Order: sequence, then C-alpha cells, then structure tokens
Amino acid sequence: MNGTAEAARAFEVLLKEQLLRQEELERTAEPADHSKKRTVTVGLIDGDGIGPVIMGSARTVLGKLLEDGSGDRKTVLRQIEGLTLRERLNAGRALPEGVLAQVRECDVILKGPTETPHGGTLESANVALRRELDLYANVRPVRVPEKNIDWVFFRENSEGEYVLGSRGIMVNDGMAVDFKITTRAGTRRIAEAAFGYAARNGRRSVTAVTKANIMKKTDGLFSEVVREVAAEYPGIELKERYVDIMSAELINEDARSCHEVILLPNLYGDILTDEAAQIQGGVGTAGSANLGTRYAMFEAIHGTAPRLVAEGLAEKASPVSILRAAVLMLRHILMPVPAARLETALDSFGPGEMPDGTLSSPDCASFTEALLRRL
Ligand code: IPM
Ligand code: MG
Repeated sequence: MNGTAEAARAFEVLLKEQLLRQEELERTAEPADHSKKRTVTVGLIDGDGIGPVIMGSARTVLGKLLEDGSGDRKTVLRQIEGLTLRERLNAGRALPEGVLAQVRECDVILKGPTETPHGGTLESANVALRRELDLYANVRPVRVPEKNIDWVFFRENSEGEYVLGSRGIMVNDGMAVDFKITTRAGTRRIAEAAFGYAARNGRRSVTAVTKANIMKKTDGLFSEVVREVAAEYPGIELKERYVDIMSAELINEDARSCHEVILLPNLYGDILTDEAAQIQGGVGTAGSANLGTRYAMFEAIHGTAPRLVAEGLAEKASPVSILRAAVLMLRHILMPVPAARLETALDSFGPGEMPDGTLSSPDCASFTEALLRRL
C-alpha cells in the first residue's frame, strides 16, 4: 500500500462491511431449541498438532457415554473433514469449500485446536468459524474449589481486535494499522448472556473488564452498555476493573475469590482466560464453549501445542481440556446425566494421574482407558 489515500480507501471498504454487520446484528436469529430434537448431531473436527490425539480420546469417551443411551433422544457423532492446516493452505482460505456446509448440518461441534500460521494472511479457522456461525459468547469456567475459586468468564467472541484481525493495513513499509470494533448490539448480547447466567445461577456479581480509560471509544462503549444492562439486574452487583489490574487480581489470593462472573471484550478475554486456566492447573485443564443463537462449538482453550509435537510428545497431550468442553457440550444439548458422569470421573483424577505433556506423565491413551473405567 502506498500512503494515506490508499489506506483511507481500504479503511472505507472495511467500515462499510462493518456497518452491514452491525445492521445484521440488530436482526434477531431464531434460537435453537435442543429440547425439541429427537436426534442431536454432534460434529467432530480433529484439528492439527495434538488435535487428533485429544479428539481420539473425546471420540472414545463420548462413544461410551452415549452408547448407554440417552432416554428417548439419539445422539449421532459425525466426523467433519477438510479443516487441517494443509487443506486450508491448499484452498487459500480459513474455511475450505464445503466445510461450513458440513458444520451447519450439525447441531453442535466439538473441535480440536487448529493451527494458524504466524503473520501472512490466512485467517484463523477458529475466528472464521466463530464469525460464520455467529458464536458471540465464549464461556470459560475455571474452578479451584480448595482455593475458593469459581469463575465463569464471558468473553465477547465476535468483535474487538478479532473481527478485522487479518485485515489490518500496511500504510507504508514502516507503518501498520489494525482495527478494533465494538458495537452496541454486540456488547448488549454478551452482557445479557453474562447477567442472565448470573441471575439464573445464583451469582451475586458480574465483573466487567475493560481499558476504558485508554481505549475510550471502543471500551468506553462496552462499559456504557454493560452499565445499562446491569441496571436491568438490580440484584446483581456490577464490579468494574481495568484489564491490567484484573490480571494482577487473578493472582492475588486475598482479592480474587470475590469475582464470580467475569465479562470481557474479546482480546482481554483471550488473555485472562489463559491466565485463569493456568491457576487451575494449566491450559490443558479448561474447556470452552462458543455459543450463538443458533449454533454452538465446544473446544479446548489451548492451541495445537507445536512444541510438544516437535519433541515427539504428542501422545502425552492431555485430553482433559477437550473433555471438559465435552461436559459443557452435553449440558448444552440438555444431556445433564452423561455430562455429570464425565465431570465426576474427570474430577476424580489427581494432577499426577493426568497427562501433562511431560515424558514421565501418563499418555493420553492410558489416561483415557482409566477414565472409561471410572465413568
Ligand atoms: C482461544 C485461542 C484462539 C483465540 C485462537 C486459536 C484463534 O487462543 O480460543 O483462546 O485467540 O481466540
Ligand atoms: Mg486463547
């Protein structure tokens, strides 16, 4: 790109697209009602790196849980192909032809991590799926009962720095500009999701995290809308924190237990949920739900673990995070009994009994066998 005129034109194109998106957001989609379904189709995507290893475990565990029957509802597991890094690079797009159609035929998706090259222009498959399925709420529970930690993060999943993350502009060779988008409608729906969850689950507060003192427009709007939604829930206290101090508070043992439901814009949510998962025992221990009005996708919160793969330790990858995601998925499709069986079995393992990526830890396959015995 060469100079301001071209950059301004490129910016105009992006803005026009975002205005269309904003209009779209203000229309309401028809919500999925899993209670009316006789058959629920679960799409399985293996992903890259350690993905096939941990998804192998998830497939076996789900197969066993669901073969025992689920009342009058049938669950079908369907493998979805075509989303490996090689296939995405060959196609030159984050979602190769046909993948989205396969995904849309399913009610919910359980997905292994997918690799995104650093730099370049290939968009993250995760980000593309979240956008195409409009999965605006990224819900990530973190619990450490012995430390009195019981957090549920509601990360906005469709806006912020992510929506145009691969569409920034090189104004000239020495200057790059990226964009951050916040909309009123996009903020309202994630704030309502967080406050609604708090109200239904007897939580007394929601902590909203921004950097509205610096990012005055985008985080400023986020904060304004959160306050409006909070006013509709007089029984729930709104706590407000800036993201820097919140990252400190999460490791402050005297302060952190007061947080219950934590509501954040996209990038801060990405960062703080990894921090929170580390407090719980590592990113291999936390599951993640991506919820929209119509679709939902469940995944581990971690990536493809390229270092583990390079060191030949992929078999030592922990499936706990994807299995925690499977628990969230089973609850979402209204199958609380198999969800509780899996959760109780996972809770029964001590840290030393689970794979942790090191040579001395159990491997994924033997852990999976031990888990099946405890279901
Ligand atoms: C996550 C991951 C993703 C994100 C990547 C894989 C795009 O870090 O789900 O937290 O940044 O959202
Ligand atoms: Mg992340």
